[in-house]
Amino acid sequence: MINKLLGLSPILMAIDLGTVNSLVAVSGFGIVLNEATAAAVSGSDERDVLAVGNEAVDMCGKTPSGVKLKFPFSRGVIADYLLSEYMIREFMSKAMQKCKLRSVLFGPKVLLCVPNCITEVERHALHEAARHAGAQDVYIAEEIMAACIGANMQFREAIGSMVVDIGGGTTDAAVIALGGIAAQGSIRVGGNAIDEDISNYVRKMHNVSIGLKTAECLKIELGKAKDLKRKIKVCGLGVETSLPRYIDIEIGSIAPALENAKGKIVDMLCDVLSSTPPELASDIMKTGIMLTGGGANLYGLSEAIHKATGIEVKIAEKPLECVANGALTILEILRGKRDSMYEGEYSMLIG
Ligand SMILES: Nc1ncnc2c1ncn2[C@@H]1O[C@H](COP(=O)(O)OP(=O)(O)OP(=O)(O)O)[C@@H](O)[C@H]1O
Ligand SMILES: [Mg+2]
Repeated sequence: MINKLLGLSPILMAIDLGTVNSLVAVSGFGIVLNEATAAAVSGSDERDVLAVGNEAVDMCGKTPSGVKLKFPFSRGVIADYLLSEYMIREFMSKAMQKCKLRSVLFGPKVLLCVPNCITEVERHALHEAARHAGAQDVYIAEEIMAACIGANMQFREAIGSMVVDIGGGTTDAAVIALGGIAAQGSIRVGGNAIDEDISNYVRKMHNVSIGLKTAECLKIELGKAKDLKRKIKVCGLGVETSLPRYIDIEIGSIAPALENAKGKIVDMLCDVLSSTPPELASDIMKTGIMLTGGGANLYGLSEAIHKATGIEVKIAEKPLECVANGALTILEILRGKRDSMYEGEYSMLIG
C-alpha cells in the first residue's frame, strides 16, 4: 500500500464504462467512483466540455440554455469518440485522486469492460482512448464475463453458469464454463429503451408527454411497489395544449409498457439456451440464471424468464456493481495478485 501511495507499484484499475453509469474499481480500495456516463458541453460545435459525470447531470438541470448534456455511448457503442476518450481520462484521474494515488513512474494498468456486441473497430478505439488518457497497459474484457465473476458465480470450473446483464443500453447474456464463454447473446434493448416505451405509453394513455427521467422513476417505483394501486403524481406537457399538467398515474398501470422489452430479452435468452451444449444446459437447470445490471430488478422480469425457461432466476446482491467488481478480479488474477487455479486466464480478455 505504501509503495502504491508513493507511486512506485503498479495501480490496477478496472473501469465499467456503461451507457448510463460508469464505475471505477481500484485494487486495494474497491469501487471508488460511480458516475453518470454523461458530459455537459457548450459552444457552437459542442466541443467545450464543462463537466463530466454526476456533476454534468447536476449542471444541466440548473444552467441557462447553451449547455447540453451529451452521452458518449449509445446502446453499448461509442457515439462520440473524442468525448469517450475525455471521459475515460477524467474518470481515471478522479479515481486516482479519490484514492490519493500517484503514478510517478507509470500510469495505471487499466481493464476496460465493454458490451459483447461492440465491433473490433470500436474496441480498438476504446483501447486507444485509455492509452491516450494515460494508462500504461490496457486490457479489454467482455462485461458479461466480469458480471459473472462479480456475481460470485463459478467461472473456472467445468460447470455451466448463466448470467444476464441488463444495462441501460444493452442486455447481454452468456453461459460460462472453464473460464470461457460457451454461448452468448446480446440485444440493444436495455433500461433506456424501456424508459422510451414508458414515456410513449403514458403519452398514449394520458395525452401527456413525460420526460425520460420521469419515465425512469416510474419504472423503478414499479419495481419496488408493494401496492400496485398506489398513485404517483407526475408532471408532463399536455399533448394538445403543450402546457404543463399534473397527472396521477396508478403505478401498476404502466406494467404493459414493459412487455415489449421483456419479450425481447426472454427471446434472446431462449436463443442462448438453445445454442448451449446439453451438458452445460443441464448444469444451468440446477444452478439457475443470475441477473446483474441495473435492470435486474425490473418489474416482472425474473418471473417472465422463469415462466419461459422453467429455470430458477436469481438476482445478484449488488447488481449495479457486479461488472466493476468482477473486472477488478480479472485484472488481479492477470497481474498475479490473486491465486489462480486456471491456466488460460488470457481467454478472459478480448482484442
Ligand atoms: N430498480 C430498478 N428497476 C429497473 N431498472 C433499474 C433499476 N435501477 C436501475 N435501473 C436501470 O438500470 C439502467 C442502468 O443500469 P447499468 O448501470 O447496469 O447500465 P450501464 O452499465 O450503464 O449500461 P450498459 O451495460 O448497457 O452499457 C438504467 O436504465 C436504470 O434506469
Ligand atoms: Mg453495464
